[in-house]
Amino acid sequence: MASTAIPVIISLSSKPTSLRKTNNSSDSFLCVQSPNSVSLRSSFVSPSSIELSSNRGVSSVSSASRVRSRICASFAQVMESAAKTDSNAPTIVDVDLGNRSYPIYIGSGLLDQPHLLQKHVHGKRVLVVTNSTVAPLYLDKVVEALTKGNPNVSVESVILPDGEKYKYMDTLMKVFDKAIESRLDRCCTFVALGGGVIGDMCGYAAASFLRGVNFIQIPTTVMAQVDSSVGGKTALNHRLGKNLIGTFYQPQCVLIDTDTLNTLPDRELGSGLAEVIKCGLVRDAEFFEWQEKNMEALMARDPSALTYAIKRSCENKAEVVSLDEKEGGLRATLNFGHTFGHAIETSFGYGQWFHGEAVAVGMVMAVDMSHRLGWIDDSIVKRVHNILQRAKVAYYPS
Ligand SMILES: NC(=O)c1ccc[n+]([C@@H]2O[C@H](COP(=O)([O-])OP(=O)(O)OC[C@H]3O[C@@H](n4cnc5c(N)ncnc54)[C@H](O)[C@@H]3O)[C@@H](O)[C@H]2O)c1
Repeated sequence: MASTAIPVIISLSSKPTSLRKTNNSSDSFLCVQSPNSVSLRSSFVSPSSIELSSNRGVSSVSSASRVRSRICASFAQVMESAAKTDSNAPTIVDVDLGNRSYPIYIGSGLLDQPHLLQKHVHGKRVLVVTNSTVAPLYLDKVVEALTKGNPNVSVESVILPDGEKYKYMDTLMKVFDKAIESRLDRCCTFVALGGGVIGDMCGYAAASFLRGVNFIQIPTTVMAQVDSSVGGKTALNHRLGKNLIGTFYQPQCVLIDTDTLNTLPDRELGSGLAEVIKCGLVRDAEFFEWQEKNMEALMARDPSALTYAIKRSCENKAEVVSLDEKEGGLRATLNFGHTFGHAIETSFGYGQWFHGEAVAVGMVMAVDMSHRLGWIDDSIVKRVHNILQRAKVAYYPS
């Protein structure tokens, strides 16, 4: 168990209606504008700081430097989304980053559509990075998707031990060992197949092997599909703190085959939903309201509900990343609950709490603090507690 916790740094303002600059905090606070409105603002002052409110069913989003239109949801759109799920055509969300833009493909059966992956492979050599749990489930399928009708491509794989406690430099060396022993050159492609741990490690390996090679994400947990595979953050843990070593390195594409969630344990499902809930809380009140109405469908793994939640989360994250790729301000709002959460993960020892569980508790602590400071009324606190309980994120210690 790690003995040293990172300091908990939170930013508090005595005036909830005005934003003020702090240096290090990445957490955010909630404040109430009216009984039916939720407003969360980044603790950073930035031209792109956002305010999101929902009142009597009408939502508005204001952003000083908003460049893209508001993301809207309705039940009609859910039905539309469900209809799309029936066809094999993927839903595509674009991450708009100029010449580093890339698509996120979302849908059922996408690993059976080799062209989606193959068009993003550079060169003829591929290294799939996965772990001992995911490999038996999906490695053959991914190798087939990479090579079917494409005999010139050869695929190597490296299977890492499973778990947050292995998200360290010495585990990463196994990836470099395999890449170097296989004589991969700068024209190769690294493919991350797994949850957020594999995505973070493979991304870091791709960013640093031969000073950067092509990279594809195939996320297989809810956490990775709604959050970690999008936006280019890569990371390793250090014994003194979580995710302290990393880079920003964008993939060529993200391929989300929602069928992979069929094998995901329930506890992992709840952990991933914590990030979905966070997304609604920090910048999309209508999405949060949709979650309040549809949490049971999400927990029952209803395909159309899951696809919709993944798509909406990716849209929100893509928009934030396109406005603030390197977390100069706005992107820090996505760290809501993470300052407390990372402290929990680090103090208890990596892997004891799942990342989403720690974030869920972090959000509970953040809203509790906001409430104590008089920034939000208890109805907001209750809604946050309620939805996290319904998502069965195990945040009440037994
Ligand atoms: N880069 C980012 O922006 C970002 C964002 C959020 C989280 N993260 C990181 O992501 C990590 C958490 O990700 P996670 O929750 O996916 O954890 P994880 O990668 O450890 O996966 C959770 C468990 O599910 C297993 N698994 C994965 N896919 C499966 C499947 N389809 N069926 C059955 N089992 C499967 C894994 O082997 C593992 O045991 C943390 O390290 C966190 O810091 C990064």
